[in-house]
Amino acid sequence: MSVSSPPPGAGPAAARDGAVEDLRATVGLQIEDEQLLRAIAGGLAEVETMLRDVVKSDVQAVHDAALHLVEAGGKRFRPLFTLLSSQFGPKQGSEHVLIAAAAVELVHLATLYHDDVMDEATMRRGAESVNARWDNTVAILTGDFLFAHASRLVADLGTDAARIIAETFGELVTGQMRETVGPGPGDDPVEHYLTVIAQKTGSLIATSGRFGGMMSGAEEEHIQALRRFGDIVGTAFQISDDIIDIASPSAELGKAQGTDLREGVRTLPMLYALADPDTDPRLIELLAGPITEDALVAEALELLRRSSGLERARVTLSDYASRARSELAALPASPARNACESVADYMVARTH
Ligand code: IPE
Ligand code: IPE
Ligand code: MG
Ligand code: MG
Repeated sequence: MSVSSPPPGAGPAAARDGAVEDLRATVGLQIEDEQLLRAIAGGLAEVETMLRDVVKSDVQAVHDAALHLVEAGGKRFRPLFTLLSSQFGPKQGSEHVLIAAAAVELVHLATLYHDDVMDEATMRRGAESVNARWDNTVAILTGDFLFAHASRLVADLGTDAARIIAETFGELVTGQMRETVGPGPGDDPVEHYLTVIAQKTGSLIATSGRFGGMMSGAEEEHIQALRRFGDIVGTAFQISDDIIDIASPSAELGKAQGTDLREGVRTLPMLYALADPDTDPRLIELLAGPITEDALVAEALELLRRSSGLERARVTLSDYASRARSELAALPASPARNACESVADYMVARTH
């Protein structure tokens, strides 16, 4: 079974046609239990409908720009994890679970609209980014529109959920801000990186698991385990994303390779390469700042692929995946717990 990222454009339409098969392929989940597989595929199909309803607007420009990345697809990892987490409570297929799943995807999507402006990215989900296809203003406002609708959905889930999503969003943007500012003079750059990615990526994935548990009426102890698992596996997800940004071609990523190098954002493989005294001095020179020329980006990528930094980042990734797995001990043995385990495995497998 494939554990690779979805082909660019393999999105909601594909998910509706061969829902179960598509689910296996797009997220690399090893779900042996047919009933669980169907429950999650069915939930994802409902989330897809909700996402399309949400982006409806009488104003054509808003509608077009909002629908653009919904239609482009993506892995739908956060709603999937919400649905999976809801398996630990009695109200598994409830309306509140589905609303929570749609809301976390909308928050994620909105951050992508804004992130692509900040990172000056030209491609997203195998399609042109919104800032490239329209402009920065359209991308920023559409991101805001999606945030607004995510908040509207969460309002129906109660004040606890509304507070949690607001806190999560605050943490996420703080991570994005800290990444932009960079480490201070006395900061350890690796520590800084790990904190940033836990905030910008781990936080929303933690909330996705927490919401799944909460909305299905799971026990508090299980909700907290799902939250901790989500936090660690989400951090691993970002490490794996930063590894494949270097190791995989753009066609597989659905986004332009080497964006971090162009923006001068130092990811874990780069930080480890910079810390190794045996690293090729040419790579150290190239990593000194943002790289604008295509040929120099290609050269840096080639040197990074051969550097010890990439291997060392893979070790850290495996370490996070094992730590995530160990959080699952607090959950009852079940097909859903096995599927969570395969989520942790997937973080490592997607980098090979
Ligand atoms: C991209 O997230 C940004 C990161 C946090 C790495 P995803 O890799 O989940 O993006 P989509 O939703 O599949 O497009
Ligand atoms: C994505 O971050 C945005 C958030 C996690 C909030 P990145 O800039 O690292 O991810 P990609 O590579 O653009 O998907
Ligand atoms: Mg980016
Ligand atoms: Mg970014």
